[in-house]
Amino acid sequence: MNVNGKPMRTIWVGDDGKSVTIIDQTYLPHKLQTTDLNTLEDAVSAIADMKVRGAPCIGATAAYGMAVAVRNDPSEAAIKQAYDALNAARPTAVNLKWALDECMDTIDGLDESDRASALFQRAGEICDEDVDICSKIGDYGLDLLKNISKEKEGDTVNILTHCNAGWVATVDWGTAIAPIYKAFDAGLDVHVWVDETRPRSQGARLTAWELEQHGVPYTVITDNSGGHLMQNGLVDICIVGTDRTTATGDVCNKIGTYLKALAAFDNEVPFYVGAPSRSIDWEMQDGLTEIPIEVRSGEEEVGWIFGRDEDGVLRRVTTMPDPSKSRNDAFDVTPREYITGLITERGVCDANRDALRVLFPEKG
Ligand code: MRU
Repeated sequence: MNVNGKPMRTIWVGDDGKSVTIIDQTYLPHKLQTTDLNTLEDAVSAIADMKVRGAPCIGATAAYGMAVAVRNDPSEAAIKQAYDALNAARPTAVNLKWALDECMDTIDGLDESDRASALFQRAGEICDEDVDICSKIGDYGLDLLKNISKEKEGDTVNILTHCNAGWVATVDWGTAIAPIYKAFDAGLDVHVWVDETRPRSQGARLTAWELEQHGVPYTVITDNSGGHLMQNGLVDICIVGTDRTTATGDVCNKIGTYLKALAAFDNEVPFYVGAPSRSIDWEMQDGLTEIPIEVRSGEEEVGWIFGRDEDGVLRRVTTMPDPSKSRNDAFDVTPREYITGLITERGVCDANRDALRVLFPEKG
């Protein structure tokens, strides 16, 4: 998508075919800062410190992290160390392990001297494939939005989204936001309710920034507002992302997603998930008991808020008497019964095992 009118991705390789650069999302929306990943440690820190975040973007960064690590040391021991360090950087998004396993398959049987170039090539393919997958999710989601627009005889379609599942959470396009970009580009009258998404404010910082850049109408709301808006008929559809969807259709996404799903269910608002197959964990059956939920620092992220003051200075402030007395579960699980449908790159399906199998028969 465009930044200041110029097309950008979240991660790319320079003309030398080796230097890997990311947008450092911790500075957005205040500053467009890029940073290079030259070592394994750079890649691990980019993921763990959330310079990159969003399940598909984490996967793409992990693939390039392996490539960079193996360029620096192609030995078996170094590869194992890189795999383990990257895999441990964040536990919930399954795209991370998927990408690392792709890397391991890529170098299986290769001589040390051939490993790095093979990994750079595969990481590039993973990124291009991600763009294609997200674009297809956008196309299928567009049909849903077109239907709502038709039912409303062209009146504004109000979409509620949580966290950031837009292009900066992927390589390009986004998952939950891709249908909105496609709808806007097709001339549909759309408006987005953007959940602020405390504690890290991915909605207020990142989704709002993206939509602003593209010119899509939006309004940032507090995390507690969605239910009230739904009760008052102000939300036509919710679309969120996913970090890990089980083979049975349970969806793990940013903390607070579950509450929106409950409110949507109670108010008969359709609740959809932009779900690329790389975010589906085909081994897992029960989201509530099996998905590892990341718990991040409460003191750092709940206790302190980072932003721009009236003088334009970036600073941290606290609103609490004691920032250390806080808890910070980063994700929650929405059971499949609250989900109207999964928007995958192969079409929209119900959130259950049988429907997923119809779209992905090769997963067994
Ligand atoms: O903690 P984050 O910012 O990495 O969480 C991101 C989300 O929860 C997104 O909704 C999810 O990764 C889908 S990204 C297209």
